[in-house]
Amino acid sequence: MAGGVPVLTRASALNIAEYEGKLTWYVIIVALIASAGGLLFGYDIGITGGVEAFEEFQQKFFPDVYNAKHGPEAQASTDPYCTYNDQKLQVFTSSLFLAGLVSSLFAGHITRHFGRKITMIIAALWFLAGAGLNAGAQELWMLVLGRVFLGFGVGMANQVVPLYLSEMAPFKYRGGLNMLFQLAVTIGIIVAQLINYGVQDWSHGWRLSLGLAAVPAFVLLLGGILLPESPNSLIERGHLDRGRHVLERLRGTTNVHAEYNDIKEASDTAGQIKLRDSWKAMFTRPYSPMLVVTCMIAMLQQWTGINAIMFYVPVIFNSLGSSKKSSLLNTVIIGAVNVVSTFVSILSVDKFGRRFLFIEGGVQMASAQIVTGVVLAKEFGADNKLPHGTAIGVLVVICVFVAGFAWSWGPLGWLVPSEIQTLETRAAGMSAAVTINFLFSFVVGQAFLTMLCSMRWGVFIFFAAWVVLMTFFIWFFLPETKGVPVERIQVKFAKHWFWSKWMGPAAQDVINRDETRTATRKAGQMEGAAPYPAAPAGDMPPRTVTADVA
Ligand code: BGC
Repeated sequence: MAGGVPVLTRASALNIAEYEGKLTWYVIIVALIASAGGLLFGYDIGITGGVEAFEEFQQKFFPDVYNAKHGPEAQASTDPYCTYNDQKLQVFTSSLFLAGLVSSLFAGHITRHFGRKITMIIAALWFLAGAGLNAGAQELWMLVLGRVFLGFGVGMANQVVPLYLSEMAPFKYRGGLNMLFQLAVTIGIIVAQLINYGVQDWSHGWRLSLGLAAVPAFVLLLGGILLPESPNSLIERGHLDRGRHVLERLRGTTNVHAEYNDIKEASDTAGQIKLRDSWKAMFTRPYSPMLVVTCMIAMLQQWTGINAIMFYVPVIFNSLGSSKKSSLLNTVIIGAVNVVSTFVSILSVDKFGRRFLFIEGGVQMASAQIVTGVVLAKEFGADNKLPHGTAIGVLVVICVFVAGFAWSWGPLGWLVPSEIQTLETRAAGMSAAVTINFLFSFVVGQAFLTMLCSMRWGVFIFFAAWVVLMTFFIWFFLPETKGVPVERIQVKFAKHWFWSKWMGPAAQDVINRDETRTATRKAGQMEGAAPYPAAPAGDMPPRTVTADVA
């Protein structure tokens, strides 16, 4: 079993002061490719809710849902909260995440042993197959199989694209990449929502909505074919000369010795850290606090209920009596708030820190959910329609919720798990985060419409309760990680009021080791060695540093 994919961090980029990193055309094209990967993920999140509200689509694939709203006994028999309560509809949405979960387990192996390009090409082919099958679907099984194919693509693209991007970009541009990927996801969501809005009255418009996922997939395919392999991947697989050559072209200079040496060293080190050891280490006392926090954050991000909104907002508004057109318009507004608020996070995360954003976002989300629940309880009356003014009010409150998510748990739900991994546990830790996140995305996708039917307005209170709990969790258990270099993360936990007790005597060992290292470094600096600069936001591996299952 080989180790995780090497990624340069502050700890491993020893010669950073000597890098000559220019922003070349190559790098810009790479960023566009990365966007295609994020866009695809977002597109697949945002597209389903809209097409599920199309009557033609319902009639063809989900006749029970159509009849519940339009059939002869519709008004008499169906509780509006239950209009869309259909297992098959939920499978259509959520199957993608189950497939993504499975493929992300294998993607690490392919990425490491066969390279980033081939992983991108395979991901793009899955996407193209999925988009084609969905666009041409005649039966429900074709729709679901298409989603499964898309899911295989998502699992791979989420793994390889941020990694590739971080390896190709000059070091100083790597900081915010994790968050830029999240931004691309939110843009993908709104693009999907806009397309749904645009084609809502077209005959077979849903085919276009589902099929257009092929456009970014094609871009990803071209990227995979035309772009060079990453220097890290080449060096790691023993193609040292080619690796150096690509690095020179990427950086626009032949003076790449310092960076080349660092990549080589990081790759050698990662080669020694076996995934099995990485997993084992995570369950030992000195490392387990970070594992617990990683898993909790990955799971709790989905219990904010964000995907109840992202997957199903058109059907929620439709259930509450809004027309298809205004439901889809509301969805677009919510998508726009999601994008803009993600920018807020990118710009402020290093100023305010992670804890502040998490806690502020939590208070905002919980308040908005409680207001939504209470308003629905009071106002959603006998005529099965929300009064117009109230519907606008609900839209505003849902926007407040989404904004809170988009500047807190959205990006931070990925950033923090990747920041709190030590070099030893990184591969296994990030793999755990992705798997858990996808698992609970699946659970929420599969359960929400049934929960809405049985809990009615109470489902918003249910998610609010989770958000309150998770906000307390952050308050008590997450040390601030802003500006903490990777090699000092563990010390943060070792000094934390709770985790220090959890670690037991190991906490003191961690602190002692850090003090020795700091003293050695200071001595080195006095002799003229370059100091470590403070780490910028996101000085970390991308969200899916691989779990290698070789
Ligand atoms: C989450 C997704 C969610 C998206 C919304 C991401 O961080 O992982 O599940 O749909 O944010 O913008």
